[in-house]
Amino acid sequence: MKMNIVSWTKGAVTAVVLTALAAPANAAPANAAPPAATMLTIRADHAGAVINKYVYGQFSEHLGTGIYGGIYVGENSPIPNTRGFRNDVIAALKDLSVPLVRWPGGCFADEYHWRDGIGPKNKRTTRINTNWGGVPDPNTFGTHEFFDFVEMIGADAYVNANMGTGTAAEAAQWLEYMTGDQDTSLVKERKANGRDKPFKVSVYALGNETWGCGGNMRGEYYADQYNQWATFAKTAQKPAPLMLASGDRDGAATDFTEVLMKNRRAKMDAISMHYYTVLGSNWINKDDATGFNEEGWIRILANTVKMDGYIKKHDEIMTAAEKAVAADGPKNKVALYVDEWGTWYKPEPGSNPGFLVQQNTIRDAIVAAANFNIFHKYADRVQTTSIAQTVNVLQAMILTDGPKMLKTPTYHVFRMYKPFQDATSLPVEIKTGSYSYGSWTVPQVSASAAKTKTGMIVVGLANLDPHNTASILATLTGPVAGQVKGEILTAEAMDAHNTFDNPNLVHPVAFDGAKLEGGKLTLSLPAKSVVVLTIAP
Ligand code: AHR
Repeated sequence: MKMNIVSWTKGAVTAVVLTALAAPANAAPANAAPPAATMLTIRADHAGAVINKYVYGQFSEHLGTGIYGGIYVGENSPIPNTRGFRNDVIAALKDLSVPLVRWPGGCFADEYHWRDGIGPKNKRTTRINTNWGGVPDPNTFGTHEFFDFVEMIGADAYVNANMGTGTAAEAAQWLEYMTGDQDTSLVKERKANGRDKPFKVSVYALGNETWGCGGNMRGEYYADQYNQWATFAKTAQKPAPLMLASGDRDGAATDFTEVLMKNRRAKMDAISMHYYTVLGSNWINKDDATGFNEEGWIRILANTVKMDGYIKKHDEIMTAAEKAVAADGPKNKVALYVDEWGTWYKPEPGSNPGFLVQQNTIRDAIVAAANFNIFHKYADRVQTTSIAQTVNVLQAMILTDGPKMLKTPTYHVFRMYKPFQDATSLPVEIKTGSYSYGSWTVPQVSASAAKTKTGMIVVGLANLDPHNTASILATLTGPVAGQVKGEILTAEAMDAHNTFDNPNLVHPVAFDGAKLEGGKLTLSLPAKSVVVLTIAP
């Protein structure tokens, strides 16, 4: 039995990182024997970086029914709503303590003109959503509605400005409209539209996927554009919004990160990276969201855990560039925002293919937990992520159908992992067996740990193996004692999912299988499960 030794806090231990090893083509089709016990060392007496709560961020784009129908139905809808926002969806998102929402896109942002979405609703401009389904967007959800939405759910705002068809002036004026506090014409206009006090913009991004739908730019050209636009994005807001540059398409590509790190002149707090989990290495052959076979199960997970190496690579490039900073260049540390991630499957049969509607199974729940465990490992660099997307699009938290709503397995993982928000990460060393199928191999167990502000230790675990229980033996260093409580999310079938007829098939239940004695934590982690444990002192 080969053991994977994985350091889940970078630099904390000198261990070999073996994730998603490609097994030889003649490998056994499946695990011949159950994997050996997983050994964890959780350094409860070593504080790592704080896990920024923004790591649990969301992305809500004007795409399909992601906003219209999914979040916003209008005041006159028979669906119960508050000022047009669905009460059921708002309540579900409040329960998640969503820290940050990215809006209005995505590719949609690359053509979005903010003036289309302010003022009386019956006078707003209708435009074709050229990226997503070619349908008209009435712009009845605009700047004021976005802030109403985030304020209702208690989240901060991440606004993405249009560098595709917009101008530096348009982006600067939008920022003034939102955040201005003196009686300029733009601020008077905002007040006339019903908002006296400034909106708070926490993150302001200049461009989206500028290597593709955002303008097919070269990194060098975009870096110049970014510096110019950021110079004029002036605001009275204190603290000023975090300024975000649009970065690479995935970890395999690093050219934007390299160029931006070398050429930053204006305020640049972060660079984004997008990485979606698809079936293979190309975007043509997508998997089904349900009804997939074991090959689909493992290939999706094998591609998910690649996130680790991708972030590592970007982190190394950024660290090297920060060390080599020019004497007159900006000296701030630049964060990495993974502001689009999640699974991307074939659209649901019968749906508009441009709407990116997909079901969500226990496989997606494991994808979410494995990604969180990776993000926690890089907590000092990865300050924000936003899963694509909140409602009805890609790996959604929530699906709606007219008045019906359901919470997906991914929703439940976000809820279970809530204690990690703003907790201090703890170094974790894992020695875990492998799960193999066909020519693919992944580590059986993914894990991370943190200490909350109230002194609780929280441990997140995922068993990627759909057949075998994982026996976990964890040693917690330092004086750790207390009561262990837990929750588990698991299911019988690999593609178990919630439907509008059976919305609670996959839901978390209490997990009382963990024992803590003399600093040793033991448990059996069922096949295809996510478990979150809390140890209260
Ligand atoms: O999330 C869907 C789309 O994926 C976004 O609009 C775009 O930025 C990315 O390609």
